[in-house]
Amino acid sequence: MKALVLAGGTGSRLRPITHTAAKQLVPVANKPVLFYGIESIVAAGITEIGVVVGGTAEQIRAALGDGSAFGARITYLPQEAPLGLAHAVLIARDWLGDEDFVMYLGDNFVVGGIADLVEEFRRERPDARILLTKVADPSMFGVAELDPDGAVMRLEEKPREPRSDLALVGIYLFTPTVHEAIAACTPSRRGELEITDAIQWLVDSGHSVGATIITGYWKDTGNVSDMLEVNRAVLETVEPAVAGWVDEASEIVGRVRIAPGARIVRSRIVGPAVIGADTVVSDSHIGAFTSVADGCRISGSEVEFSIVLQGSRIEDAGRIESSLIGRSVHVSGAVRAPRAHRLVLGDHSQVQIAS
Ligand code: DAU
Repeated sequence: MKALVLAGGTGSRLRPITHTAAKQLVPVANKPVLFYGIESIVAAGITEIGVVVGGTAEQIRAALGDGSAFGARITYLPQEAPLGLAHAVLIARDWLGDEDFVMYLGDNFVVGGIADLVEEFRRERPDARILLTKVADPSMFGVAELDPDGAVMRLEEKPREPRSDLALVGIYLFTPTVHEAIAACTPSRRGELEITDAIQWLVDSGHSVGATIITGYWKDTGNVSDMLEVNRAVLETVEPAVAGWVDEASEIVGRVRIAPGARIVRSRIVGPAVIGADTVVSDSHIGAFTSVADGCRISGSEVEFSIVLQGSRIEDAGRIESSLIGRSVHVSGAVRAPRAHRLVLGDHSQVQIAS
């Protein structure tokens, strides 16, 4: 069995971060979200992994390499444009050959892994198996309608009026029959080859499509609030460890991981939180559910329930909450009058000012 990981796409809901970085590489507890997916594929015993890449191919390659760091062998499959999830399978057709495969959307996050699911698929081997979970806002997802016996009847991509609250989770298991289904698909109204249409074709033509409803933790990290929420969930499980240097005037409370080379000076860090290598926190308060990446400087500020990426500086900035701060960003307080907001913001930035 092989795995096909989708790491192309545009990431428009995570702009401006995704103007310069692949959305699948935004870190959760200082580790790219994509790594968690690759790790759970390998933990399920699958080591042949095809990674579909688009405009951010170079970054994805640099992060994953040949896969040996994960105990896997990675083949990169370039997709000329994000033309749909079924299109990604289409371009991977030759590499997939006649093997069964798990398709894993690179921005999805599931706690508990996929080992049991893969094992069950290997045993029962339906033509396809999808994962579903109840969500509050089904119109944001692919939505499935099941008959009273739990068999899949109908699938619809981002319906205006959803017929159920069961969203498709971004993990699918297929036999090679899916290639026949994709060959029968035409682009949808949003111009994409939809995997939901291919699965619908399987249902309509009498193939077996199983559905597993998962109740555990799942998130699509496509937007900022979901990203912060996944960060919160992962931080709750980090192993506390202080490898950096903490001065006597500082206080570390709860589940906190401080990487080597980090320095904490006259500050309070309240876990769960992680502080990256070579980051310096001084005269500050880092509150719960915060990940600060490597090489940052935080001074005279409070940061809570936030993700701060590599090399950023936050100085005399007051209190920052529920924020996603990109790489090499500089946030500082206005020390001289007038105490006006002076902003240099990238395209599609979002700022909420508390005054
Ligand atoms: O997260 C679950 C949802 O994922 C499902 O409920 C939907 O049915 C499914 O269509 C998908 O919806 P999204 O709008 O979240 O898909 P997105 O465009 O974000 O793409 C998902 C991943 O696949 C992401 O890592 C980018 C990658 N991708 C996407 C497309 C369209 C590709 O590599 N190539 C593509 O052509």
